[in-house]
Amino acid sequence: MNPRLILTLSFIGLACAPEAPPAAAPKTPPAAPSSAPASAPASGPQQVLDQMDTRVAVPLLPMMAHHQKQNMRDHLVAVQEIVLAAANDDFTGVEKAVARIGFSDQMGQMCNHMGAGAPGFTEQAIAFHRTADRISAAARDKDRARVLSELGATLQVCTGCHAVWKQQVVDDPTWQALGRSGPPAH
Ligand code: HEC
Repeated sequence: MNPRLILTLSFIGLACAPEAPPAAAPKTPPAAPSSAPASAPASGPQQVLDQMDTRVAVPLLPMMAHHQKQNMRDHLVAVQEIVLAAANDDFTGVEKAVARIGFSDQMGQMCNHMGAGAPGFTEQAIAFHRTADRISAAARDKDRARVLSELGATLQVCTGCHAVWKQQVVDDPTWQALGRSGPPAH
């Protein structure tokens, strides 16, 4: 029995990256394989790390994990651009930077799709994009103080998500097992 493993495998998510395959449905947690990741030896460095880092794991194929981290680094670039634009009262620049992290229908669809098997992850991802939109609203009002306080609120969503979730790269059979355990997500 490994309750953390079971919990781990009931969460799948990707912060709105487009290439993920369908994920498991929240109400039908998959059967756990005997170990995760399968390749890790019983007391290997990954297991040592996992014992220190007790956040909930998000199982991802290598390509998805890579894409998620690319997105994340771009999120940080967006924050950088927002701060620099705000410092210059460049409200158009603020809006332009926020557009990279703001909500759109396409973004929402991706969040729903990616988080289909990760209860709570989609909600956090969408809340993040919606909160970022409030930075744009403040920029349209040319209100720098509000731009910064809404940026602070957005960053709280970033850090709130990071506090809860960690990536866990899984192999294809593990991923397939997760995907088959629920109805198709599309
Ligand atoms: C819905 C959840 C979620 C939100 C919102 C989110 N992140 Fe992340 N982020 C993650 C996860 C999951 C990881 C992988 C963490 C791990 O495995 O340690 C990550 C990793 C990162 C990394 C590390 C990238 C790398 O190359 O290793 C950066 C930088 C980052 N996020 C920045 C941000 C910023 C900036 C924001 C907000 C503007 C943000 N994230 C919002 C989930 C999120």
